[in-house]
Amino acid sequence: MEHRHYGRSGLKLSALSLGAMTFGEAKGFMKGVHSDDGEARRVFDAALDAGVDTVDTANGYAEGRSEELLGQWMKGRRHSVTLATKCRFPTLGGTGPMHPNEYGLSRQSIVWNCEQSLKRLQTEYIDLYQVHMQDRSVPIEETLRALDDLQRAGKVRYIGCSNYTGYRLTESLWAADKRGLAKYEGIQLQWSLVARDAEREVIPAARAFGLGILVWSPLGRGFLSGKYRKGQPPPPGTRLESWKDSWAMTATDQNWRTLDTLEAVARRHDTTPASVALAWLLAKPEVSSVIVGARNIQQLQDNLRALQLTLTETDVKELTDVSTPNWGYPYNFIGTREPW
Ligand SMILES: NC(=O)c1ccc[n+]([C@@H]2O[C@H](COP(=O)([O-])OP(=O)(O)OC[C@H]3O[C@@H](n4cnc5c(N)ncnc54)[C@H](OP(=O)(O)O)[C@@H]3O)[C@@H](O)[C@H]2O)c1
Repeated sequence: MEHRHYGRSGLKLSALSLGAMTFGEAKGFMKGVHSDDGEARRVFDAALDAGVDTVDTANGYAEGRSEELLGQWMKGRRHSVTLATKCRFPTLGGTGPMHPNEYGLSRQSIVWNCEQSLKRLQTEYIDLYQVHMQDRSVPIEETLRALDDLQRAGKVRYIGCSNYTGYRLTESLWAADKRGLAKYEGIQLQWSLVARDAEREVIPAARAFGLGILVWSPLGRGFLSGKYRKGQPPPPGTRLESWKDSWAMTATDQNWRTLDTLEAVARRHDTTPASVALAWLLAKPEVSSVIVGARNIQQLQDNLRALQLTLTETDVKELTDVSTPNWGYPYNFIGTREPW
């Protein structure tokens, strides 16, 4: 397994990570699209056996159950897992009441949530603690000071963020620098052949400041696996059957054209569309790790094929050209003269 640095930090992540968002019976946003405990356990074991040693979860996945299951399954092998989790959203999602101090990026919420995650995960430390989304209602210094304290206390080893705007990310790096506080070493963001918006601001910012990138929803929630067909409703039981808004956003003419190209490239390499979509991301030097979602063993095996695949320059160009969105202003203005 290839390992890559998390930004400029010394932390090394497996090039593919395992996403634990489908682990545990969910009542909230993952209801009906999760794996049962037995299948999730098989996916976890098979991923570790294949050398995927970075695992990404969050306080709110299956309302805390994902962390609890990982805690049980890591017993006796905690040290061989690079464990990433997150705080920011209410653990119970919309499924139960939570006090306003139990979510968001205040000192109170961050410290409380970290303690709760450590308990559920049955561990003394989190390798990578990520804030799940920016929170403008809290001063940046308060958020960073709380994370810095956790790091100094040895409860978290590295910190990162997820779902930040370019300006807020830059402000956070400035504030950390100015006050000598722990800084985000990387960002977790949505990136795929059907979701390239982060290439406007956040990815160039990550490149400019040497941040690592962890990629989420690399298959566009399963669209790029090739199991969805133009003109047909999504297959029953799939994520995009359940998530109507995501389906409406994804099933666009351009994305169907992208899927056609993806399938043509997959045929050339005698492999699957999912493995090509993941290899397109792995080919990017700024990517520290691509977080793979797999609801069952077959999907995991399919996705692991990406590690064996090297795309040619022609493959990458065809995929990149067909999936390029209209960047808008000022990117188109700058882009006619030089890369931005
Ligand atoms: N930071 C954030 O805000 C954020 C947000 C989302 C996710 N994440 C992280 O990123 C991870 C991955 O995200 P994701 O689950 O959305 O990734 P994804 O790869 O885009 O979608 C995964 C889903 O696609 C389907 N699928 C995956 N591989 C397949 C294959 N080979 N063939 C057919 N179907 C396949 C499965 O859904 P069905 O079988 O149900 O169709 C699976 O649950 C999560 O586990 C989580 O750790 C983070």
